[in-house]
Amino acid sequence: MRHIIDLADLTAAEFSDLYKLTTNIIDRPEGYVDACRGKVLGSLFYEPSTRTNLSFSTAMMRLGGSVVGFSDPNSSSTAKGETLKDTISMVSSYADLIVMRNPREGAAKAASLYSSVPVINAGDGGHLHPTQTLTDMVTILRMRGSADNMKIGLCGDLKYGRTVHSLLHFLERYHNVQIYLIAPDALKLPDYMVHFLKEHQMPFCEVSALDEVLPELDVLYMTRIQRERFVSAQEYENLEGNYQLTAAKMKRAKKDMLVLHPLPRVDEIAQDVDDDPRAVYFKQARYGMFGRMALLLTLSKLNFQRPAKHGIGTDGVRCSNPKCITKTEPYLPLDVPVGARCPYCDALIELRL
Ligand code: NCD
Repeated sequence: MRHIIDLADLTAAEFSDLYKLTTNIIDRPEGYVDACRGKVLGSLFYEPSTRTNLSFSTAMMRLGGSVVGFSDPNSSSTAKGETLKDTISMVSSYADLIVMRNPREGAAKAASLYSSVPVINAGDGGHLHPTQTLTDMVTILRMRGSADNMKIGLCGDLKYGRTVHSLLHFLERYHNVQIYLIAPDALKLPDYMVHFLKEHQMPFCEVSALDEVLPELDVLYMTRIQRERFVSAQEYENLEGNYQLTAAKMKRAKKDMLVLHPLPRVDEIAQDVDDDPRAVYFKQARYGMFGRMALLLTLSKLNFQRPAKHGIGTDGVRCSNPKCITKTEPYLPLDVPVGARCPYCDALIELRL
């Protein structure tokens, strides 16, 4: 366990240790106030974030460590044209751990190549968000014991929602999980994720209305329609307001269904749902902080070694994803054949013309 690019990279044993440590911290936080004393977290947020950023900073402080970094790339050397490689080489010589959010897909993987300390992906564009998945899983496991045999509905923005992609990757390891994908056509799960579900024989169905499946669900994972990832405001407005959960609809749901949301919520969950005991999204955010404490503590104890050498640039191929980190950081090695998946963002590799 070194860099955390995708939570699904952890083995079952590693995740089980992490979950046990999280529950110990939840039950006895005072036992960990000095656990990271003297450690420094480098926190690099190239994209707006309240929850994840605050959650990581609070987690490090509750462990007795400290935090340096930025939450606005305009106040960093990136604004002067510095490469990601140089920023990471520098920060990793100051800090003991790095947490990074970046709008480019595959950015965390790219950063990990040049870091001499563990890198934690706090969201890379619409791609992955492993510590949100940790948050989601801690909530499900703490409240229901397991995710086995569950009917899980994912509702809203399945196209741009990186939290959904990460969670689906992780759910693959549970038995008999049935996935209900609830989204309008324009926000359906991307092809590479559908491919992932099929490849791993995860039973799923795609429906276009929450009402159709709500009474069957054990967990409903609501998501925000991500305005910042839309090309036009009109495209966004056409979908806003669809796929809403209200107290009236909750009457048709199971008595013990959990309602999760990575937050921030806009109007996809009406305020009148908040007092329903099944609405656990604020509790989920709190569990997320404890999960991040466990992760920081675990990674800070590692004997970490940066791999010695890396190739530079690409040879005849390129990634087909315009949002891939390789488009803005062209020195990144891309040593894979046409038709393979991009090692950074998972999109298809094509011929460079
Ligand atoms: C999510 C994110 O940033 O991907 N939020 C979060 O990390 N808590 C979801 C969102 O922004 O809608």
